[in-house]
Amino acid sequence: MQVYLNGSYIDHTEATVSVSDRAFVFGDGIYEVIRVVNGHFFMENEHMSRMDEGLKGLKIHLNEEVKKEIPAIGRKLVTKNELDTGEAKVYIQVTRGSAWPRTHTFPDPPVKPTVYIAAEPFIPHTQLHREGVDTITVSDVRWSRCNLKTVNLLPNILAKQEARDAGVNSAVMIRDGVVTESPNANIFGVKNGVLRTYPATNYILNGITRQAVLSIADENGIDVNLQPIGEHELFELDELFFTGTTTDIQPVNRVNNREIGTGKPGPVCKKIQELYNVKLAGAE
Ligand code: PDD
Repeated sequence: MQVYLNGSYIDHTEATVSVSDRAFVFGDGIYEVIRVVNGHFFMENEHMSRMDEGLKGLKIHLNEEVKKEIPAIGRKLVTKNELDTGEAKVYIQVTRGSAWPRTHTFPDPPVKPTVYIAAEPFIPHTQLHREGVDTITVSDVRWSRCNLKTVNLLPNILAKQEARDAGVNSAVMIRDGVVTESPNANIFGVKNGVLRTYPATNYILNGITRQAVLSIADENGIDVNLQPIGEHELFELDELFFTGTTTDIQPVNRVNNREIGTGKPGPVCKKIQELYNVKLAGAE
């Protein structure tokens, strides 16, 4: 696979970064994952503006010209890797750059950010979309700026592994008695036909798929309540589902071995899956 690293297109086996890269020593960087369908970048502008917010949040100064070029680089990689037809995903990572010696403060004078972009084939989890998944609850121990898509994913990977070790697919994270999100997706509940999801605050990532689902709800007269779901309310819900770029719309059947609703993918989730697939196929 050809990747892009700091101005060069090279094979991924040849792409290396310095041990003094700030992302290697501090996790000092941000990333994006964009879905590509038949060469179209799904909700590209939304991904690019979230990346921009992340750069601002971390005070990483990426040259405007380089920033503007990122989608074109992604497209070039899609073509170079023969991914113009079918499903693919583009990964973008920008770090504060490499600086020696290791100091917590930003490099002074500033260094050039590291820019890494990759395009890979993507296989949607269609069986999980059809059948739904089981989950466990875990404590959301992340920091309080979860709106920034940083490469600091330790709590997320530990939570996901805890789920794997428990023999289930994923986790429902709980902070202060309410459901926030999963380690790699947002969460929606359904009660009496109304969608419930955590509001877009600093305690969740405002997922692009979450935004697409909120638009679908708006366009189709589905009511939305941005009141977080209490942990104690989970088992009173009719349906629960995850949303994310690589997760799509994924029904959750069980939490901690207890059924949500009928314990099977529900009608609202199925309807949203259908409408989301239409949006994705149009890749606007
Ligand atoms: N993760 N919440 C978290 C913590 C996430 O990591 C993600 C996505 C989402 C969904 O966001 P979006 O709809 O914009 O993909 C929510 C990506 C795909 C990942 O880490 O690979």
